[in-house]
Amino acid sequence: MNSFVINKKIDSFESKINVDGDKSLSIRWILLASQATGVSKAYNLPKSEDVTAAINLIKKLGIKVKIHKKFCEIHGNGINGFKYKKNLTLDAKNSGTLGRLILGLLIKSPKKIKLIGDKSLSKRDFSRVTVPLSRFGAKFYYNKNNKLPLSILGTKSVKGINYLENKGSAQCKSSVMFAALNSPGTTSIKAKKSRNHTELLFKYLKIPTKIRSTKKYDLIDIKQPKIVPAFNYQIPGDISSSAFFIVLTALANNSQLLIKNVNINPSRIGVIKILKKMGVKIFLKNQKNYRGEKLSDILIRSSNKLKAINCPSELNSSAIDEFLVIFLVAAKAKGISYFKDISELNQKESPRLNWGAKILNMMGVKTKLTKSSIKIYGQPNLEVKKTIKIRNYLKDHRIFMMCTIAALTCGGQWKISDKDSINTSFPSFLKIIKKIGNKSP
Ligand code: S3P
Repeated sequence: MNSFVINKKIDSFESKINVDGDKSLSIRWILLASQATGVSKAYNLPKSEDVTAAINLIKKLGIKVKIHKKFCEIHGNGINGFKYKKNLTLDAKNSGTLGRLILGLLIKSPKKIKLIGDKSLSKRDFSRVTVPLSRFGAKFYYNKNNKLPLSILGTKSVKGINYLENKGSAQCKSSVMFAALNSPGTTSIKAKKSRNHTELLFKYLKIPTKIRSTKKYDLIDIKQPKIVPAFNYQIPGDISSSAFFIVLTALANNSQLLIKNVNINPSRIGVIKILKKMGVKIFLKNQKNYRGEKLSDILIRSSNKLKAINCPSELNSSAIDEFLVIFLVAAKAKGISYFKDISELNQKESPRLNWGAKILNMMGVKTKLTKSSIKIYGQPNLEVKKTIKIRNYLKDHRIFMMCTIAALTCGGQWKISDKDSINTSFPSFLKIIKKIGNKSP
């Protein structure tokens, strides 16, 4: 059965876990390794559907990939070294990151390539990347307005562009950065701050990249490199996956959890900053640097004194995938929380701002929703008593995981559909829940 029933809150626990590898870094490693000259290896690459989709996609572009028990090996064919026959179709499945980033690498493709995705991805806007990429000279053909399927036809005469990224979208920024690998001259990007994994990887790989930062924007200049060197990478744990367990622990009774070896890149830890302001006890231990990224163990203790937040919008982009679970903390906090300028949440695998509000309402929590903001009226003694059925046909992994955490911490009888959606980003999610569930102190 593809649904999951929970009718009991989690007992108090003390546990230590590892979460699956970071999805953003994994997809970037796969795509960059496909452009490298030589063989690259990655360890701890997650076996999630988004990552598998990325591997299958570059294989279709003629790149040799070998999956070993402990690592994955990619035989890069150099920049623009893809080899494929006419009428190729690539499938990005559920992954916006994959669909948008790969287009950046295809701006010189001499034959038309069709890009498709699953039902959820086919509802999402692609003009946000095809508009800047067409300025490099590539041509795009849509069936429906700005949605997949689309076809791309590259051009030989690519030139670097100046691009203003104003949404705070790392996917848009990275797609253009990937296009810069194929573009003679300099590509200059002024990007509203967002996760900077691509920049850190470019720097590590000595791709000529200059970055200046202002308070709101990063100014990035990239010169076309001669080669991308092959490189090995140990993928750290994903903060977005960790967030579900941070909140599980924060809202459980008398519990403690250590999450080992998580990527705490400053552009990703909005969730930690926001939850700390709300009174969640989070401690970063054993911090280290790895190829420009920051890694840490994260220790969380449960807290019964949570307070509402008027969330500063500067933190939005660094918490963009974590708002659903942050909303759960707001539901149990004292006071009215306010999250603004978050319309981007409705551009994700499902319209998450609307769904988040809907789920809170089902739990008996009052919300005030606009197109870009939500007020959540917290109830420190919130106890769900009724039966909640979540029929989420949108294949949104994070909706499923949010509901699971809500059920385990707020009570009620829950029947949550679309269990398999967790395979998109976090296949071990339920296994870890089970492990923690057996760990009463
Ligand atoms: C991602 C960027 C974010 C995020 C997504 C992963 C990335 O999307 O929501 O899950 O790896 O670059 P946007 O860039 O559209 O905000």
